[in-house]
Amino acid sequence: MSTSESSPALPVVLDAQRLATLHRHLLAWFEQYGRDLPWRRTRDPYRILVSELMLQQTQVERVRPKYEAFLQQFPTLEALAQASPGEVIRAWSGLGYNRRALHLQRAARAVLEQYGGRFPDTPAALERLPGIGPYTAGAVACFAFERDVAFMDTNIRRVLTRLFAGPAALADREVLRIAAAVLPAGQGWAWNQALIELGALVCTAARPRCQGCPVRSACHAYAVWRASDAQVFDAPPPTRPARAIAERRAPFETTQRYFRGRVVELLRGLPPGAWMSLAELGPQVKRDWREVDRAWLQQLLEGLAQDGLIELDRETGRARLP
Ligand code: ADE
Repeated sequence: MSTSESSPALPVVLDAQRLATLHRHLLAWFEQYGRDLPWRRTRDPYRILVSELMLQQTQVERVRPKYEAFLQQFPTLEALAQASPGEVIRAWSGLGYNRRALHLQRAARAVLEQYGGRFPDTPAALERLPGIGPYTAGAVACFAFERDVAFMDTNIRRVLTRLFAGPAALADREVLRIAAAVLPAGQGWAWNQALIELGALVCTAARPRCQGCPVRSACHAYAVWRASDAQVFDAPPPTRPARAIAERRAPFETTQRYFRGRVVELLRGLPPGAWMSLAELGPQVKRDWREVDRAWLQQLLEGLAQDGLIELDRETGRARLP
């Protein structure tokens, strides 16, 4: 791996022997405690892609039933590619972040059109597909094709940062550099699953369960927490008090994301192909709806139409799923 002069030296734990011990402990822990999840039983890139897009920003337990139902409805890449976007948006119900449904379908269509239905297996080629970012490209290359690829999501970022640097956040570039440096050759699949799993079950954001952590003896953050206050290290303090974050955040029901989701949800409730007028939508989207809110709603709908999530008939002032 190349190093650049501006980057700080990696912590000593990268010593080969300590790293080998760390690999052994974490992989053994994953073997024993890793959850039996449906997307861990397959290497089908289509299924892996579906799972990874669903898992972004959504909890495993919420994804599980949706994943199964989605694959029943769209068992193959071809089935998904041929569906209307509206059908896919309907099938995404309950998962939120509806744009992911469109990303998934665009990627499926591109694999069909550009690769005859056979997924490319390198992160670079995967990332050139529409709707697929660096994380998803890495995850599909690793979890479907068992390539030794370093990538990160929020769990991997948090675990690697704590293990190798300490409690403070690192720049993404640094985390990726560490991820590539510590990836055990030939075991990328299990290693990345194990990092994700540790982040989900033990090395959680707010209250990491260090006492149950298989790699705490090698962890920089654990050492710092323990040194700073023996009394709190059983439940290391979150970097920011949860209450302060909650207070700064606007109530969800006033956010743009909420209103966008609400529109899609209402349109999902219609029979396929049916329209809803702005006059009907308004009062159901926003509490205390008034006629002056119409321009705001119009703009909200324009944004959704631009993203491909709805179809807008501007002449008659109606919307529907695409
Ligand atoms: N989140 C993202 N990818 C995941 C995976 N493969 N297993 C569990 N949670 C995940």
